[in-house]
Amino acid sequence: MSEVLEDNSVKESLINITTDLASDDFSRYLIDRMHQLEQRNLFLKEQQLKTEAEKRKANSQKLKFERELRQLRSEMERLKAAPLIVGTIVDVLENDKLIVRSSTGPQFIVGLSKFIKESELEPGTQVAMNQQTLAVISILPPSKSRLIREVELVKSPDVDYSQIGGLKEQIREIREAVELPLSNPEAFVRIGIDPPKGVLLYGPPGTGKTMLAKAVAKHTDTCFIRLVGSELVKKYIGEGARMVRELFKLAIDNAPSIIFIDELDSIAAKRYDGATAGDREVQRTLMQLLAEMDGFNPRGEVRLLAATNRLDILDPAILRPGRFDRFIEVKLPDADARESIMMIHSRNMTLSKNIVFKYLAKITDGSSGSDLKAIVTEAGMFAIRNERECVEVEDMENAVTKVLNHRKNSNQIVENMFQ
Ligand SMILES: Nc1ncnc2c1ncn2[C@@H]1O[C@H](COP(=O)(O)OP(=O)(O)OP(=O)(O)O)[C@@H](O)[C@H]1O
Ligand SMILES: [Mg+2]
Repeated sequence: MSEVLEDNSVKESLINITTDLASDDFSRYLIDRMHQLEQRNLFLKEQQLKTEAEKRKANSQKLKFERELRQLRSEMERLKAAPLIVGTIVDVLENDKLIVRSSTGPQFIVGLSKFIKESELEPGTQVAMNQQTLAVISILPPSKSRLIREVELVKSPDVDYSQIGGLKEQIREIREAVELPLSNPEAFVRIGIDPPKGVLLYGPPGTGKTMLAKAVAKHTDTCFIRLVGSELVKKYIGEGARMVRELFKLAIDNAPSIIFIDELDSIAAKRYDGATAGDREVQRTLMQLLAEMDGFNPRGEVRLLAATNRLDILDPAILRPGRFDRFIEVKLPDADARESIMMIHSRNMTLSKNIVFKYLAKITDGSSGSDLKAIVTEAGMFAIRNERECVEVEDMENAVTKVLNHRKNSNQIVENMFQ
């Protein structure tokens, strides 16, 4: 009996051991499996994040393509849209009706879009019209021709009175004629006279006429519209005259302003019979200029300034009182003016103490402002060539000889040409 018992207990313990062993294996197996599953889980999570990022990217790309598609569609619509007809309002009638002239000539009574404000409807305004019904769809901005955009519109030029040598009397006169009517118009009203309409600067080349005009504009802080007369000479009939009209309109829109026509002789030369078609076109431009000058109010905020070095060839009509009626002669500088012009242009140069400008002014008799500027610059060039620290008297003297000789020679060449 005890043997049987022993046997049983042995068996039990054996089973226990095997179950122990089996459960160890199993738990190890389970732990392994768990690790594997955890790793798998991690991998899948990573995978998921990656796919989500890709999805987001694809989504944003989709949006981008959709936007592009919309843009291309609207561009296609725009290109396929029927053209609009350009017309000009002739008259505004009641009940939202207009008389317009189409660009081909005939006039029509048409309706208009309700988005157009009544205040924008003025005879002469350009409009866009539907091709079939000719209904006015939109108002076009006032057409500024390409020509007028070429005009130099400077808010404030960079020349100051202090940069002008001599010309004291001229500066005073020009300020009276141009600045005063802009800054103190009451003075003219009080005395009961009209300020001069146009001021004409005349004199030999290079004496500072253009500079003077710029300095006035700078000082008055006005809009300065500068153009050279030859820019008004155009290829097609009527173009020059239109440009003059637009020029005055531009000046009025930007008032207070100064219109400065440089080299006036290119359009305002004397008119004569038997002119060619080209001459007649220039004359038309001149007549438009005369008409505009007659039309604008002298007390208004637009001043007209012009410069020429050929007063003798100007048309008398432009010089009569009421047009260019204030003449300012800009002469060749005298000795004092020459001295100050040279001092102005050598302000930033390193000069030897031995240079006496009074002496230089004496030996440069007959030179213009631009000659004097050339002399000073040339002296600087000589100093550089001679590897000096500063400009010496000798450099100045050489420059005077060089520039004045050069001028004499070129004058001689011109004289010989006409012999
Ligand atoms: N009085 C002056 N003071 C200082 N610089 C001057 C003077 N006069 C002329 N100059 C110099 O000469 C250059 C030419 O002057 P500006 O263009 O004013 O001459 P202009 O009288 O208009 O000549 P043009 O009749 O040939 O047009 C200026 O840039 C300036 O450097
Ligand atoms: Mg000039």
